[in-house]
Order: sequence, then structure tokens, then C-alpha cells
Amino acid sequence: MARLCRSFCFGFLLSASLLLDQALAASNWPFWSYVTAPFEPPKLNIFTAAGSTPDPGYFFIGPRADGVNGTAAMIFDQAGNLVYQGPDEVTANVNVQTLFGKPVLTYWAGTMFSLGYGYGQVHILDDTYKEIYTVSLQVPFVTPNGTTEASYIDLHESKITDRNTMLVTAYNVTQANLTAVGGPADGWMLAAHFYEIDIATNQVVFSWSALDHQDQIPLTMSHQAIGTTGQSQSDPWDAYHINSIEAVEDGYLVSLRHLWSGFYLYKNGTVKWQLSGDTGADFDLGPGCNFSWQHHMRVHNEQSDGLTLSLFNNAGANPDAQQPPTTGLVLNVDLANMSVTNFRTLVDYGDPIYSSSQGDTQLLDGTTTGHVFMGYGANPVLREYDSNGYVIQSATWGPNNAFASYRGFKYEWHATPFWDPAVVVTNSSDGVDVYMSWNGATDYDTWDVYGGPTQTRANASLLTTVPRNGFETKATLTAQNVSYVQAVARSGNNVLRASAAIPL
Ligand SMILES: *[C@@H]1O[C@H](CO)[C@@H](O)[C@H](O)[C@H]1NC(C)=O
Ligand SMILES: *[C@@H]1O[C@H](CO)[C@@H](O)[C@H](O)[C@H]1NC(C)=O
Ligand SMILES: *[C@@H]1O[C@H](CO)[C@@H](O)[C@H](O)[C@H]1NC(C)=O
Ligand SMILES: *[C@@H]1O[C@H](CO)[C@@H](O)[C@H](O)[C@H]1NC(C)=O
Ligand SMILES: *[C@@H]1O[C@H](CO)[C@@H](O)[C@H](O)[C@H]1NC(C)=O
Ligand SMILES: *[C@@H]1O[C@H](CO)[C@@H](O)[C@H](O)[C@H]1NC(C)=O
Ligand SMILES: *[C@@H]1O[C@H](CO)[C@@H](O)[C@H](O)[C@H]1NC(C)=O
Ligand SMILES: *[C@@H]1O[C@H](CO)[C@@H](O)[C@H](O)[C@H]1NC(C)=O
Ligand SMILES: *[C@@H]1O[C@H](CO)[C@@H](O)[C@H](O)[C@H]1NC(C)=O
Ligand SMILES: *[C@@H]1O[C@H](CO)[C@@H](O)[C@H](O)[C@H]1NC(C)=O
Repeated sequence: MARLCRSFCFGFLLSASLLLDQALAASNWPFWSYVTAPFEPPKLNIFTAAGSTPDPGYFFIGPRADGVNGTAAMIFDQAGNLVYQGPDEVTANVNVQTLFGKPVLTYWAGTMFSLGYGYGQVHILDDTYKEIYTVSLQVPFVTPNGTTEASYIDLHESKITDRNTMLVTAYNVTQANLTAVGGPADGWMLAAHFYEIDIATNQVVFSWSALDHQDQIPLTMSHQAIGTTGQSQSDPWDAYHINSIEAVEDGYLVSLRHLWSGFYLYKNGTVKWQLSGDTGADFDLGPGCNFSWQHHMRVHNEQSDGLTLSLFNNAGANPDAQQPPTTGLVLNVDLANMSVTNFRTLVDYGDPIYSSSQGDTQLLDGTTTGHVFMGYGANPVLREYDSNGYVIQSATWGPNNAFASYRGFKYEWHATPFWDPAVVVTNSSDGVDVYMSWNGATDYDTWDVYGGPTQTRANASLLTTVPRNGFETKATLTAQNVSYVQAVARSGNNVLRASAAIPL
């Protein structure tokens, strides 16, 4: 039952005919290929509304698709060019965060299970792509097939706090009395844990398990039907599905997807309040505040009498059915009168998206009134909404439900890789073609191609200068009276880095 899962997963089974359609469509999707790198990332279809001004930044995704290339951490520019591709691995939550006051690239990588969670590590790269920290979790955990893992961090959350710790989710397989929800007394379930880990030392500084709080979070609160699950270790019931954690003033804000709820926890782990998307729980829900199967709850403008909460409201859980469309929600949570009012709903009813799983809602400029960027999870779609709620930019990289990225973000990012640019030369009918790329480099605009008689004098004469053309740039040398060439990446007049000298 616990199979490796790249795309068709997260607990929702699609019909066989839908899967076949998606497989056919996926096999026709165009991919890039390059001379200088073994990457085959998907091509992005990008729409930008005429006259609009999307916020600056790059797209950060971790695409997954069965049986095709392009499963890695990736950064694209707004024209759809690849900027960075990491190692071939299943990734999640590729994004830019701040650690010790500096921007870092972080992402989870590991093994993903069909129930929609995983076991792996979080990689933290500086702005040269040097891995400065690897966050891992060694705890006595049980997996569905009884394996021992090097690290038990789950894919859903890897949030850096202001105190330079990381909040991560983790799923344990454990036994519990499931009679209250129609299961066996000696049933099997997934326990929902989160850990706060000190990044510099990799020490756990706080841990929490929903099962320790059954007085406030009983199993009967789950909306996840137990069905035939819960009978065996390899097929545990996913009662909670923990999927986002954030550090807040009094403790932590935890999203439990299968309870359609966010829980505000005190620092001792007990529940201060619960906001449910159907009953409201501790709140009166105003119109337009319902949500279900949600992801990516984030707190903004927290004050003693209230806060703003953004979230990805998956809403419909079945892509075959015409459920309410997926929305981004920005809710005002009033703690004085315990009521929730709708501040913004991000959706295009003319072109609705039904995301059965995954996804995120990012407030781009840090305010609640600016542009909002959404990654649609199970659907390979990114959308930017302007302040009036119009979609001004979108990007897709495959058929819906065939390709996915757990989350998709837009961030500004300035990186100069520690590695050198790559150059490959090929003979062509016109002369010699020189292909140049510099995986991950953001801030160069020009290539100078030098040539010379020997390896050490490869830079003897400037042969040609060409503007950067996306990920890989080609220059053609017609009169090649040289034996070696060398490419140099420049930003304006600022020389950044030279490639190795390559023989012709
Ligand atoms: C356990 O399950 C994982 C994920 O499906 C798989 O990668 C691994 O090979 C399995 N191990 C065993 C011993 O079955
Ligand atoms: C991925 O791309 C490389 C380089 O083009 C190729 O050798 C490999 O077979 C591809 N893998 C798959 C799964 O398509
Ligand atoms: C995980 O579950 C097992 C029982 O299946 C239990 O022995 C173990 O203590 C749990 N791990 C943690 C960290 O709670
Ligand atoms: C399981 O829980 C039920 C109540 O939901 C209780 O009646 C029963 O005794 C419990 N069984 C065991 C084996 O603890
Ligand atoms: C947890 O902390 C809150 C707030 O300080 C307090 O009201 C509550 O009694 C504490 N609960 C436990 C079990 O310590
Ligand atoms: C939405 O919330 C209201 C108020 O709590 C509740 O009465 C209603 O049943 C909810 N609707 C759905 C579709 O969850
Ligand atoms: C609670 O106060 C807010 C203003 O902060 C108001 O918009 C809302 O209508 C009030 N709700 C109730 C139920 O009184
Ligand atoms: C290009 O052609 C020349 C002579 O025809 C040959 O010496 C050289 O190895 C070729 N270079 C490449 C990169 O194929
Ligand atoms: C050319 O290369 C040589 C040896 O690699 C180096 O010493 C020299 O500084 C380079 N000249 C320029 C103009 O970059
Ligand atoms: C190669 O030819 C160009 C003109 O085509 C000339 O400027 C350059 O000096 C020559 N380089 C060498 C190394 O002979």
C-alpha cells in the first residue's frame, strides 16, 4: 500500500480513465533540453495580463511527475526560463526564507508515500547554493512498511522562525483504539507531530503530538472517513493530516487538514482556540469564511485582540466532482468578540480550479492588501491576483492532476553560484557554436567569449559578446583561428566569473 508517490497521491484516488487521460496528456507536455546541463524541466505556459504589473520575483516550485524528467527543486523567471535546477529528487516547499538575517533557499527532499506525507531532510542553501545546514530528525518513529529512515521530517512544513529554529511536521504510525470512529480497537493510525529544531545544532527544542491532546482534539473531530483504513500498519488511518505550523505570539498556529481547522496552541501545547471552517468551533463564522481540507495557514498582523489569517482553501476534495472551487482566503479573526469575517477571497469564477490536495496562498508584499500568489498544489498552476482580486499572471507546467508541486511561491532572489559557468562547443555548418549556462546565477546579463592558442591563454582575445538568452545562451564563431575558448559572465561592466578553458 505504501508506494512511492510523485504525483497521484495525497489520499485521493482518481478514476482509472482520468489517470489514463492525464498520462497521455503528460507524455505530450513539452520539456526543455540543454547542451550544457542534463536537465529536462517542464516548459511553463505563462500568461501576463496586458497592462498589468506583476510583483517582481522568480517562481519557486518542486515539480513532480511520474516517469518523466524534471522532478527537482526549480526556479524559473517570469518569462519561463529555468534559472536553477537542483538534484533529481522529490522535493517540497521550495522557497526563500531568512536565517541569521540572510536570505536562504530551503526545500524538503525525501521519500513520499501515497497517503501524501513523507520522510526526508530539509536543505538550507546560501546565496551561492552552498548547503550551509541540513535539518534532520532522528526519533523513534514507525513507518508503514517498517523501514528505518535516516530522517523523519515530513514534507509539509519547514518554516524558519525569527529565533533561527525550524518548525517541521512529522508523521508516525501508531496503534490506537479507533472504535469511536468505526475502526478496530487495536487499529493503526498516523499520528500528527510537529517539532521545533534549532538549526545551528539540529537539536529538538519543542515537540508536540495531537494524540497527547485528545481532551481538546478528539479523533471524532476528523472529517477523514476511516473506510477500510486503520486495519494494518501498512494502511494507517490519516486522522489529522498536519500540514502547516507557524510560530505565533503565545505559541504555535497548527493546521490540521482533516479537521478543517486551525489550532492556536499555547507554548505548553494546549489549545488556546480552534477555528473550524464548517462550525467555526470557538468562533462565529461570517459569510465567505467557510473552508475545508485547507493548507498553508499563515498569521499576519497579530495583536492581543485579533489577527489576520491567510490560507489555501482546497474546498472540494474530489477533482471528478464539481465541488466549490479552491479559493485563497484572507480572514479577519476578532478575538474580542470571537468572530471571523472575510477580508478577501482569491478565486477566478470564470476559470475555477479544483485542487484536491496541496497548495499555498502567499501574501506577496507582506501586507494583507497587496498582490496574492497561489500555488495550486495537485494542479501545476501558479496564479498572481492583484489588489482588486484579478488574475494578472499565471503559469502552468502540465496537465491538471498529472503534474504537481506541493507549494509554489514567488520570491526575489539574488544568487551567484559557487560553481563556474558551463561551456560546450560543437562544430556547425556556420563554424563553431559555443553554448553557455550558469545554473542558479540570477544577476548576469552578458556573455563574453574569449579565444586563444593555448589553455592558459584562452582569454587572449575577445571573440564575441552576446546578451544572455535565458538559461542557456549560444554564440556562433565564424572565423575560429583559436584552439581554446573561455566564456565570462558579466553583469553590466562587472565581470562575475569565467568558465574553464575548453578546447575546440
Ligand atoms: C518502504 O516504502 C518506501 C516508500 O514506498 C519504499 O521506498 C521502500 O522501498 C519500502 N521498503 C521496504 C523494505 O519495503
Ligand atoms: C532524463 O534526461 C536524461 C538526459 O537527457 C536522460 O538520459 C534520461 O533518460 C531522462 N530520464 C527520464 C526518466 O526520462
Ligand atoms: C511512534 O509510534 C510508536 C508505536 O507505533 C511508538 O512506540 C513511538 O514512541 C512513537 N514515536 C514517538 C516519537 O512518539
Ligand atoms: C475502545 O474505546 C471504546 C470507546 O470508544 C471503549 O468502549 C472500549 O472499551 C475501548 N476498547 C479498548 C480495548 O480499550
Ligand atoms: C498552558 O498554558 C496556558 C497559558 O499559559 C494555561 O492557561 C494552561 O493552564 C496551561 N495548561 C497546562 C496543562 O499547563
Ligand atoms: C459554513 O459555516 C456556517 C457557520 O458556521 C455553517 O452553518 C455552515 O454549515 C458552513 N457551511 C459549510 C458548507 O461548511
Ligand atoms: C465583531 O467585531 C467586528 C469588528 O472588529 C465586527 O466586524 C463584527 O461584526 C463583530 N461580530 C460580532 C458577532 O459581533
Ligand atoms: C570540430 O572540427 C574540427 C576539424 O574539423 C575537429 O578537429 C574538432 O575536434 C571538432 N570539434 C568538435 C567539438 O566537434
Ligand atoms: C587570462 O588568463 C590568465 C591565466 O588563466 C590569467 O592570469 C589572466 O589574468 C587572464 N586575463 C584576463 C584579462 O582575464
Ligand atoms: C583571430 O582573428 C581575429 C580577426 O578575425 C583577430 O582579431 C585575432 O587577433 C586573431 N587571433 C589570433 C589568436 O590569431
